[in-house]
Amino acid sequence: MTEGKTILRALVGETQAVPPIWMMRQAGRYLPEYKATRAQAGDFLSLCYNPELACEVTLQPIRRYGFDAAILFADILLVPQALGADLWFVTGEGPRLSTVTTQADFDKLGPVSDIHETLSPVYQTVRLLTEALPRETTLIGFAGAPWTVATYMIAGQGTKDQGPAHALKAENVALFEALLERITQATIEYLSAQIDAGAEVVKIFDSWAGSLKGADFDRYSLEPARQITAALKARHPGIPIIGFPREAGEKYIGFAKATGVDCVALDNSVSPEWAAANVQVDGCVQGNLASHHMVTGGQSLVDETRAIVRAFSKGPHIFNLGHGITPDADPDNVQRMIDTVREG
Ligand code: CP3
Repeated sequence: MTEGKTILRALVGETQAVPPIWMMRQAGRYLPEYKATRAQAGDFLSLCYNPELACEVTLQPIRRYGFDAAILFADILLVPQALGADLWFVTGEGPRLSTVTTQADFDKLGPVSDIHETLSPVYQTVRLLTEALPRETTLIGFAGAPWTVATYMIAGQGTKDQGPAHALKAENVALFEALLERITQATIEYLSAQIDAGAEVVKIFDSWAGSLKGADFDRYSLEPARQITAALKARHPGIPIIGFPREAGEKYIGFAKATGVDCVALDNSVSPEWAAANVQVDGCVQGNLASHHMVTGGQSLVDETRAIVRAFSKGPHIFNLGHGITPDADPDNVQRMIDTVREG
């Protein structure tokens, strides 16, 4: 058995009797202590840019549950903001951004070299976390994938079907690709700075990868992930990378090999048995309990958790949800999930 942190061991391909566990959005509104710190910060973005408070909310789920990994508290939409987009959050609705749909909009964006000015508090949060985290806890940094970030920049908000981004891709593919390229380069610099500050793993969230089909998926989800992975591994040899092409379906097959990521995070639309046979054969997988179990609890939470652990037990696995935990979740259900995973 290898020495060291359980998450890092899974990411180098070790099969463990008890899979390490963390949870997407583990620092969030389902926790009363998060809501208290957030109220202290004022709004969500002030919390993201306040290193002491962002460090505090990152630590809260570690203190309460002893997760094997902490994820930096920040947001994927800080990158567009650092490139010069206006960003604000409307309570109860979600993010709003100034839109990029014309060449003139694109020309107003700043150069990649300017992003650190806005993002330096995030790197400070990472540095504080490297001091504050327990020795056994792995620190995960992250960024949005270019396609997912572009869907917000083009629409100016979240959308059900990413219609505006698909429309720009159809109507002005040169502008669409220039935007993706700017985000790709910014993401490389942003993640590289997080690694320099102490992030031990980075995760690329492509939350809307599922709306890219066929060759579009290969061009706009897989290829940017490959470029970011190659650039980061050239600069930081051995840095483990988790890719999350959410709802990729059959496109999960071969994603790790084609991009070079060390682990593929799975949403809960794929069955663990299918994913074990088709995706885990290439290396570590992460996932994939439906987040509604954190709301509904009960015996089905226990049964489903056990089924996922069992299905992935023959290879490297990091237990997680299939998507972020929701604000209406019951913190006791999170404890129940952890106890079930760790009962062995
Ligand atoms: O997982 C974590 O605990 C780390 C922090 C984190 C946040 N957002 C904090 C957050 C991470 C990794 C993200 C990623 C993120 N942000 C994604 C990709 C993952 C996914 O969920 O698909 C996306 C698409 C975003 C953009 C975003 N941020 C939206 C659409 C929203 C509004 C929806 C909502 O849940 O309110 C946010 C806000 C946000 N980001 C919150 C948190 C804790 C809630 C803000 C609050 O406190 O009010």
